[in-house]
This record gives sequence, structure tokens and C-alpha cells, in this order.
Amino acid sequence: MNESNTAIQAVGLVKDYGSGDGVVHALRGVDVAFAKGEFTAIMGPSGSGKSTLMHTLAGLDRATSGRILFEGDDLTRMNDRQLTLLRRGKIGFIFQSFNLLPMFTAEANILMPLTLAGAKADRAWFDLLVDTLGLRRRLGHRPAEMSGGQQQRVAIARALITKPSLVFADEPTGNLDSVSSAETLAFLKRSVDELGQTIIMVTHDAVAASYADRAIVFADGRIVADEPHPTADRMNLLLMEERRAALAAESLPASIEPPTPPKRARAAHAAARHTR
Ligand SMILES: Nc1ncnc2c1ncn2[C@@H]1O[C@H](COP(=O)(O)OP(=O)(O)O)[C@@H](O)[C@H]1O
Ligand SMILES: [Mg+2]
Repeated sequence: MNESNTAIQAVGLVKDYGSGDGVVHALRGVDVAFAKGEFTAIMGPSGSGKSTLMHTLAGLDRATSGRILFEGDDLTRMNDRQLTLLRRGKIGFIFQSFNLLPMFTAEANILMPLTLAGAKADRAWFDLLVDTLGLRRRLGHRPAEMSGGQQQRVAIARALITKPSLVFADEPTGNLDSVSSAETLAFLKRSVDELGQTIIMVTHDAVAASYADRAIVFADGRIVADEPHPTADRMNLLLMEERRAALAAESLPASIEPPTPPKRARAAHAAARHTR
């Protein structure tokens, strides 16, 4: 991947929480580049660092060390004000818990990033989002008056209203029923295919990951597999292999080195080639 088609890239990204005995190594030197206009899924066990990766890449949280390259700048060198402006204009974030403002209508929530920036809405774009997401009849409703699927669609419209080139979605379908989930994923896929958006989505669901162009498996703060054109079966297999490897590593005596993650990822790739 050369620089011109890279949307965002992490180089040696490290994130520790706390220090001393209580330190948690959430990211252990992650090197990854995401291509423009590509939809990537990130999978892996709970606590493996997926949300931390998303938050540091999106400038919501500070890295401990390493670099984050986005449109020629290094996010890790930016001050809070620069990061706020960047997030407002170029990066969208969709949270699992929607994070809508309860006192505001769906319309006000969707427009909130523009309101905060003192910018005017592109009405045609607002209409396209609202109609595509099936929110026309909900615009006057507050979050409490909407279903989970409707709230998540409002949150997606809010993330896309500024036309960000890069969208992060942290388990966007985690609180949705299967129909709402399929609708949400179809819309995300469409916004990549038709609008050229770059989307990075965390999911626990191998079916959700199969909507993506690429799927990365995370374990213990590292990338352990990187799969082009993921299928649900393939991702379930990789996740099961990862779990088995983690259990085996735990039960080994301390003198025996567990297999290193890169080797495991390579073996998984080799296995994939045989089964495809
Ligand atoms: N604010 C925080 N303070 C301390 N530890 C944290 C914080 N956020 C996450 N962690 C820890 O970092 C690790 C990775 O967490 P997270 O990125 O949320 O994982 P995932 O999203 O894959 O479930 C976990 O061990 C978690 O407990
Ligand atoms: Mg998480």
C-alpha cells in the first residue's frame, strides 16, 4: 500500500494504561495501514485492545508511543485543539451505545457536529442520509421514543453528516436485533462502495465481518491474523484457532516459548490457502 491510497496508518503503536505493577499493555506495537475506500472489520476476544486501537486512531485517546499517520500529519504530535478540529471535520465515530443526546430530537442529534462547529448543513446530503437510513418519519423524535435500530441509524447519520473521509464504528450492531443489524451493515457497506468512505469496524459477529473487504484478528494487543475477503466461516475458524492457541500458551510450562503471534497468523494464512 503506498501513501496515496492509505487512509490511516499506525506505526509501532503502543498504549499502556496505568503504570508499575498495575500496567495494562493494551496495544503492544501495532503496525497497520488501512486503504482508502476500504471496509475493514476488527475482531478478537474481549479485552484484546480493539476499542483502544479505534480510540487512539480516532484521536479520542492518546497513544503511549508510536505514530499515527493521517493525511500527511502525525496525530500523536497534535495538541487537543488540533485533534478536536480534525475529528470534527474528517473523522466520524459510531459507538455501540449510540451516545445520542437524550434531550434532542433525531434531527438535532444528526446535525449536532455541524451545530458545534457553527457550520451549515448540506441539505441534499442530509436528505440523502435521512432517506437512505429510513429516518424521515423519526426526525422529530427523541432517542427514548426510538428503537435501538433507529437510534443506531441516527448515530450513523450523525457520524456521516460532516462527510468524514474516515469512519470508525465500535461494535455498531452490538445492541441491535438481526434485522436492524443487517440494515446497518448494508448501509455501511453501501457508503464505502458508493461514497468512497473508509470504514474501520469492530465486531464480535463473524457474519458482520463478512460484509467487510478485510478482517483483522486482534489478540492481547497485537494483530494475529489479517484476512482479505473474509467469510463468516473463515472468521469463525480463525477465532477458534486463536482461542485454542491462547489456551495452549497458558497451559505451557514457563520454560517453553509459546508460538509467537506472527507465526500463528502465517500458519492461519497458509491453512486458508488450502481450504479455499
Ligand atoms: N481507561 C482504561 N483504563 C485502564 N485500563 C483500560 C482502559 N480501557 C481499556 N483498558 C484495558 O485495556 C485492555 C484493552 O481494552 P479494550 O481496548 O477495551 O479491549 P476490547 O475493545 O478488545 O474489548 C483491557 O485489558 C482493558 O481492561
Ligand atoms: Mg471494545
